[in-house]
Amino acid sequence: MGLAMGVIDVVTAVYPGSFDPVTNGHVDIAERASKVFGRVVVAVLNNPAKDALFTVDERTEMLATALGHLPNVEIAHFSGLLVDFARQHGAQVIVRGLRALSDFEYEFQMASVNRKIGGGIETVFMMTANEYAFLSSSMVKEVARFGGCVRGFVPDHVARRLAEKFRPAR
Ligand code: PNS
Repeated sequence: MGLAMGVIDVVTAVYPGSFDPVTNGHVDIAERASKVFGRVVVAVLNNPAKDALFTVDERTEMLATALGHLPNVEIAHFSGLLVDFARQHGAQVIVRGLRALSDFEYEFQMASVNRKIGGGIETVFMMTANEYAFLSSSMVKEVARFGGCVRGFVPDHVARRLAEKFRPAR
């Protein structure tokens, strides 16, 4: 694909997030990143202070199934600072997906902090496909919690896991 792509092929990128759970928007970004970078480490944040619906193991397992078709993508989890995780995994780049303008301020803040403390790590933003511009894990959880259909928002196996989580106890 030309010289520039050859250079970027040797770059490891980390794609971090809560992934609670992985959505089709995340899959779209991981696919895009896997085409551009030689190796992509998808990093699930383990933050006990944040109320998550799925455990880190569940989130990791769902990601592994959703991204199993991408040979240069690995799944890992981390706690602590993202830039430390990136350094430990030899990553030079952080990938984040941008949906709408509303993401910008939060992402700008994170990228600025990571630039300050990251010792040369670059944040690269990728635009999600238009059909996922509105999609978020929170929105998916809300729809699933009230029994709505999440088909098309998340991979089918994730939709099943959501239905199990919210199935009324008998
Ligand atoms: O999917 P999210 O919740 O928007 O992802 C946020 C994430 C995991 C990328 C961010 O919270 C993070 O990197 N946390 C680790 C702690 C850290 O490094 N903080 C400093 C930069 S803000």
